[in-house]
Amino acid sequence: MLIRQLYDHDTFSFSYLLADLQTKTAMIIDPVKERLSLYLQLLEEFELSLHYAIDTHLHADHITGMGALREATSCKTLVGQSSKMDCADEQFADNDIIHCGNIILRALYTPGHTNDSYSFYLEENNGMPPCVFTGDTLFIRGTGRTDFMGGSSEDLYNSLFSQLLTLPDHTIVYPGHDYKGMNQSTIGEEKQHNPRLQVKNWQELAAIMDGLNLANPKKFTVAISANAKCGEVP
Ligand code: FE2
Repeated sequence: MLIRQLYDHDTFSFSYLLADLQTKTAMIIDPVKERLSLYLQLLEEFELSLHYAIDTHLHADHITGMGALREATSCKTLVGQSSKMDCADEQFADNDIIHCGNIILRALYTPGHTNDSYSFYLEENNGMPPCVFTGDTLFIRGTGRTDFMGGSSEDLYNSLFSQLLTLPDHTIVYPGHDYKGMNQSTIGEEKQHNPRLQVKNWQELAAIMDGLNLANPKKFTVAISANAKCGEVP
């Protein structure tokens, strides 16, 4: 089993290559279109066949590489049930299992950042600790914003406290972005040190989120319309 965290410096986005080295099959979570050549290079170097390109949600800050990967490799594109992405080949729902070789990934519906946000949980395997790919639901010492695209601080609170924080404390957290120079954490570490998790109820989280006053991401308009078509820029 191989997990590679890949960073797009322009949009502070993480993508993840997951591969079963026995069956030589792979999937990529949250690919960024501009990094296509890097993904193809790694697939070739490890002699992997790409089965799936998956987005955790419809992104507003970068253009998805799902469509470009599908064109280049004939992989299937997968998105969550409530994503407005008709271009995708298949959709998953809460608790669905995505199989890829010996990789068993569980989809967890974690709305809040957007109403189509999912996380993916990979159970403990051959001595490798469990991992969760949290998209923009949980960052290291932060969370995704909740002020657009069906975002809701109440949903985010429930997704965090009823879903992600119930995972084992030693679960490795692989976030969808990082703006502070960190790349991974654990559920236990975030419970202790993430300032947005030191709240008693959703109203306290909402008060933090409402005070952020963030500007829209620079690729906002183009990303939303392109990502509805799996990354096809009009
Ligand atoms: Fe996002």
